[in-house]
Amino acid sequence: MEQLTELRDTIVAEVTSASGLAALDEIRVSALGKKGRITALMKGLGSMDPEARKEAGQSLNALKEEIAQKIESRKISLESLEIESRINSERVDVSLPVRPESEGTLHPISQTIEEIVAIFGPMGFEVAEGPDIEDDFHNFTALNFPPDHPAREMHDTFFIPPQEDGARHLLRTHTSPVQIRVMQEHKPPIRILAPGRAYRCDYDITHTPMFHQVEGLVIDKSTHMGHLKGCLIEFANAYFEVDDPPVRFRPSYFPFTEPSAEMDIGCSRNNGELKIGAGADWLEILGCGMVHPSVIKACGLDPDVYQGFAFGMGVERVAMLKYGIPDLRTFFESDLRWLKHYGFSALDVPSLVGGLSP
Ligand code: PHE
Repeated sequence: MEQLTELRDTIVAEVTSASGLAALDEIRVSALGKKGRITALMKGLGSMDPEARKEAGQSLNALKEEIAQKIESRKISLESLEIESRINSERVDVSLPVRPESEGTLHPISQTIEEIVAIFGPMGFEVAEGPDIEDDFHNFTALNFPPDHPAREMHDTFFIPPQEDGARHLLRTHTSPVQIRVMQEHKPPIRILAPGRAYRCDYDITHTPMFHQVEGLVIDKSTHMGHLKGCLIEFANAYFEVDDPPVRFRPSYFPFTEPSAEMDIGCSRNNGELKIGAGADWLEILGCGMVHPSVIKACGLDPDVYQGFAFGMGVERVAMLKYGIPDLRTFFESDLRWLKHYGFSALDVPSLVGGLSP
């Protein structure tokens, strides 16, 4: 017993006077470590008779715990002493140059979507969203696709294995299903812009299985084709930052619009260099049309009361035209050199340099 008290006093004295964290750790090892003084006494218990072992065991355990606690609390105070002495001795030199840090950039897709939203926002369009995984009704049926339309077939559409109830889900092939969702949920007047991903089973220099579109929809009682043309011409002016670029609306076909058109923008090609906004050539930039009465009806609205227009443009396509990006596939290869070259500073506000005419 006496021997124990002596050992305790020695170790406690060592702990109290430990000069730093390293010294304290040495004391811990020499007391409680594998070959430590207390550990050695523990080992001796085995050779005692049971009565004596019980008593000695209890005292040894109590000692072990006491020492461990003392070491822990000394450690805490040594740590705060150390911090305090660092605070007192170290100085921050605010005149040092900053360390160079690499900054990320905004992907051209994000930048282009922001630009498009910034142009249509002041015309009264709000942003709407819908799911990437759609059902047949929203992606096709409500949009007036005939049952045998080729876009429903496997080679174009990514179908998801049917669910237990037989419902067939798919990755939406365009952003047009958002038109349906908005018309089902909101009463006109409606003016929305729906940016998002679309999916088609295709891969070459101008197609990737995932791409982006921005859908536009206007529904009220009196919107006509003149409004459609006005909005889209205004968009082309502002987006391409050219004054009154030549545009034309070429008759086309979509099941969900009637009449339907494709909008082309005038351009010229000189020695492979593409110039938007002048010249004898034409480039298609989007699809559009007056919303088909069957679509309005499928959403529970009366087509004799409500009408309007819709358009859909490929984000990658208009980004490639504006920023001179030649290959669509590079958008999704995550090559840092490409991202640095074509990316935008996160602090850039969408450009309206071309301006919206008053
Ligand atoms: N959804 C059509 C497409 O993906 C584009 C479009 C949208 C056409 C709205 C007309 C109206 O090609």
